[in-house]
Amino acid sequence: MATRLDLLPIGVTRVAQSRISGVDLSNVPFSSVWSDHVFVAEYRNNAWTNARIQPFAELALLPSVSALQYGLSVFEGLKAHKTNDGSLLLFRPTENARRLQRSAARLAMTAPPESLFLAGLRELVTTDRAWIPPVDQGALYIRPVLFSTDPSVGVKPADRLQFLIFTFPFNAYYTAPVNVIVNENYVRAFPGGTGDIKACGNYAAALLADQHARAAGYQSTMWLDAKERRFVEECGVMNVFFVIAGEVYTPALTGTILPGVTRDSVIRLLRDAGHVVREERVAIADVVRAHQHGSLTECFGTGTAATVSHIGSIRYRDTLIELPPVERRTVGAAVRSQLVSLMTGANADAYGWVERIR
Ligand SMILES: Cc1ncc(COP(=O)(O)O)c(C=O)c1O
Repeated sequence: MATRLDLLPIGVTRVAQSRISGVDLSNVPFSSVWSDHVFVAEYRNNAWTNARIQPFAELALLPSVSALQYGLSVFEGLKAHKTNDGSLLLFRPTENARRLQRSAARLAMTAPPESLFLAGLRELVTTDRAWIPPVDQGALYIRPVLFSTDPSVGVKPADRLQFLIFTFPFNAYYTAPVNVIVNENYVRAFPGGTGDIKACGNYAAALLADQHARAAGYQSTMWLDAKERRFVEECGVMNVFFVIAGEVYTPALTGTILPGVTRDSVIRLLRDAGHVVREERVAIADVVRAHQHGSLTECFGTGTAATVSHIGSIRYRDTLIELPPVERRTVGAAVRSQLVSLMTGANADAYGWVERIR
């Protein structure tokens, strides 16, 4: 079967036998199983070609490809939900297509056109719709990835690329408030670097700090700015929000912070609900001070996998900031529930953020 979408036909080869029968969709840890199919497209001779859906399986790559040698690889993350009437909902997928373009451009790579990204995505989630957990039990995580298959070991922009999308079901990323530790030894991003895009190397470079955090009993790292180590940037792979004296603060997008789709959505929802949201530099010393004065009432992270996740405590040097119990937090809880209602189709979408696939 071949579906003609945009100008590039997408060939579909289905698995002979789905692997879904042994999977309990109401209880799947993050990244523990893979859906049946993968979308693939290739870039060569200055054109995108050979778009197809095929069974999820190992790739054949030359050992010399520059994705392996030099990290020429960028990715995305988004989710699909299922509704009571069986429709599929995608949340702001165009934002991910555009962010992939920006990520690719920063690594001198050519991203698939927005139309190909979206066509492949729609076709794949439709093909694997059986893998989307039932309403209110989770979502299908969607991982687009673009990497170099250029076999040259010379350090140069890639002439050949592969674009993949694969998916997996999951229920919750964090189930309890997250305890984090501020890291002053390592930085996630620096001015002029790649912190504001989803380059694979960013995540590799963050792993050691994460390992230290876990060894010390914390689940994640709170990152500070590279120059002064004074200002909060992100928390693990989430954007971060503080509620101080009734106002909401989140670090401004200064070029070292990933512009999260969830961050953007949460800011909009909070403002529309009447909250003051300040996008500015947030000094960790001010967070400590607010805690000491009793005016720091909430801290939460936002991201596709985490949606809105409460931060339970923040360790900074000798200070342990223990945030109020979740039952006393109103801002993060309310915006989370509003966002989830939009994403799952429980609330009408006044923003034009949700794309419905029947
Ligand atoms: C470093 C980092 N910050 C923030 C986010 C949140 O972005 P989004 O809301 O688009 O998922 C992510 C990932 O998803 C991330 O990797």
